[in-house]
Amino acid sequence: MFAKVEKQRNGIELIKIDNQETTIVFSNFGARIISWKYDDNSIVLGNIVEADEFYQANPFKFGATIGRYSGRIADATFELDGKTYTLDQNDGENNIHGGPHGLDTKFFDYEIYEQVGQVKIIFTTIIKSEDDHFPGNIELKVTHTYNVEHKWTVEYEAIATEKTLFNPMNHVYFNLNRDNNIIDNHYISSEKLALYPLGDNNLVSSLDPIDLKACFDTDKIKFKDIFETTHPQLQQQMTRYNGLDHPFDINDGQMTIENKHFLLKVETDMPNVVIFTFNDTSSWQSNFNIYKPHSGFTLETQCIPNDINLEGENAQSIIEANKPFYSKTSYKIFEKEI
Ligand code: BGC
Repeated sequence: MFAKVEKQRNGIELIKIDNQETTIVFSNFGARIISWKYDDNSIVLGNIVEADEFYQANPFKFGATIGRYSGRIADATFELDGKTYTLDQNDGENNIHGGPHGLDTKFFDYEIYEQVGQVKIIFTTIIKSEDDHFPGNIELKVTHTYNVEHKWTVEYEAIATEKTLFNPMNHVYFNLNRDNNIIDNHYISSEKLALYPLGDNNLVSSLDPIDLKACFDTDKIKFKDIFETTHPQLQQQMTRYNGLDHPFDINDGQMTIENKHFLLKVETDMPNVVIFTFNDTSSWQSNFNIYKPHSGFTLETQCIPNDINLEGENAQSIIEANKPFYSKTSYKIFEKEI
């Protein structure tokens, strides 16, 4: 397999990989995935034609690497080893997606490795404490690999100069419908699907999750059935948020999403998956904004948002100085035989 590089304006470079019936495109801007197609069907949201204009002001951060801390941090503040850190408030009073100078805004350096049966792109950058006000700098490597089996793998390797928080993810939105209609007809499954309810401002309010498999008594749960549930606690969540924006516990980091035509298999070593069903698309004032609610869904593999304030020193997002961090998530697409 091989990759082709195309330069756009504003320093944006596209790295295009062709693999028979599938194609995938990444960019140096935010170490993003820009496009993933099965034949002519786009299975992720993005814009390859005008990437140089589309991504810079897009608040939904399609396909971007997010960090150093993916989810919200309540009141943009946390304590670590007795010291209080104050971050930028870029989501009401909270901090989200690592703040306004997060990884999604960075131009990464990269190297392409064409190997037998796969292409690997290693993106590198440095996260500086002076940019995001978390403790310590982090040397970061994000590797995107695409292989002949139509499997996209993202690996994160990081090393910090001080004890800090690190909770990266990729903000890709999927839509497996051939006509790109809303995703309410997709089914999710995993041996475990436990959803953490949200309180005010999209923040996790309880570490006591709702067992969706018990609520629906089925192995594959349709998004529409979640949205239209009559289960009192879940219904209250759906009414409040118009869909999912919730962290899940899943079984062994494995989860499947499917519709009639495609099946997407996710595997991760991160502790949780946040599923966001693009519930309100109105905040992006742009001609590029052609999206209606539920145009896509994310599968954000990460530690539970705000874990540092919920769990203190036990937060899984804490990393020690000079101790290498490694994490891996993969997404594999299958076309169903009908
Ligand atoms: C958050 C959503 C937010 C979206 C777009 C997601 O990661 O969970 O609440 O609306 O990103 O910024």
